[in-house]
Amino acid sequence: MIKQMIGINLFFATAVFAGNAPAITPALIEKGKAVYTANCLTCHGEQGNGEGPAGAYMNPKPRNFTKDKFKAGDQPQQIFKTISLGLPNTTMAGFGHLSEEDRWAATYYLISTFRKSAANLKK
Ligand code: HEC
Repeated sequence: MIKQMIGINLFFATAVFAGNAPAITPALIEKGKAVYTANCLTCHGEQGNGEGPAGAYMNPKPRNFTKDKFKAGDQPQQIFKTISLGLPNTTMAGFGHLSEEDRWAATYYLISTFRKSAANLKK
């Protein structure tokens, strides 16, 4: 019974975070740029290399999207989840207050602009 309940919870968790990835469109990536500029750039930098104005003083440093390994994974749904929930014990906070569309937009912008080699996005 408990096992079943855990199973159901996992199912819902997956549905919330991975259920409905929108199609990648140039408009959504453009929107992602605005989301990134407003919410992420101070730490991760305009070039996505972790050298934003606030990033230099942080420990751990903000991820350099162009070359660092992503500890929570760098596939679109994994990045979406990181943006939604943040990473514990770091300054990488969750951005669950942004709309789901904005979080997907930031995910796609990040991958398509800074992490071209990492994920095979179907356009
Ligand atoms: C206040 C600074 C700060 C802001 C703002 C910020 N981040 Fe981060 N981010 C970090 C830090 C620090 C890390 C590295 C944490 C670590 O090493 O565990 C990180 C890591 C990440 C990672 C890598 C996760 C992994 O699995 O390794 C992603 C993806 C990411 N951030 C995306 C974003 C996006 C998208 C935004 C804007 C919506 C954003 N961040 C805003 C500080 C920030």
